[in-house]
Amino acid sequence: MRTAMFNDDALTHTFNPNLLAVEKFDFLYTDPPWGQGMIKWFNRLTEPGKKNKELNFDSFLIHFLTNISSFIKGELVIEMGNNWTPQVINALRLCDYTVHEVITQKYNKGTSKAVYANRQSLPSFNFSDAYMKGGQKAVLAILEIVKPRNIVDPFMGVGRNYKACKKLNVDYYGVELSKERFKKSYSLWRT
Ligand SMILES: C[S@@+](CC[C@H](N)C(=O)[O-])C[C@H]1O[C@@H](n2cnc3c(N)ncnc32)[C@H](O)[C@@H]1O
Repeated sequence: MRTAMFNDDALTHTFNPNLLAVEKFDFLYTDPPWGQGMIKWFNRLTEPGKKNKELNFDSFLIHFLTNISSFIKGELVIEMGNNWTPQVINALRLCDYTVHEVITQKYNKGTSKAVYANRQSLPSFNFSDAYMKGGQKAVLAILEIVKPRNIVDPFMGVGRNYKACKKLNVDYYGVELSKERFKKSYSLWRT
């Protein structure tokens, strides 16, 4: 299994699929940051001086999708913060994705949501079954069905998606901005 991990900013990172010896990544599976902190950071770069309530989450999503789209074959799952569904769907459509399914599931501690979209007209797998079956380990259930050779995860956090890839021998390319979180993911790889 090939792995690449970077402690970097995904919005400006130059993704390099060649590190996994592929032309483009088969699949994007990620859980972007949904808090004001991230939006604030993004807007400092694009619209400096704005207050929190004026921040534009849509432009963050569109910037992210536009940036990542040239590196992936066109199929993706994005896990979502609860309140962001309309913005995520809007951004995906503006970036020419077909949104196939948006799933919400409840588990003991709360709710999780995810969207499956691609750039072809037909979905290639039954996303809702996989997501519901997977529970809090939805990524594992989905990768077992999709069987990508590799995935890119621009917001890897503490490595939940990496763990699933390791288990299934899927090549993994991850980026994480926080030093502390990066270290946790990296130690899963290097120990
Ligand atoms: C919702 S969490 C991801 C959770 C992840 N699936 C896990 O297993 O931990 C979003 C992550 O994005 C990171 N992040 C925020 N802004 C970022 C940026 N510009 N580039 C890369 N990572 C970023 C945060 O530090 C956070 O760890």
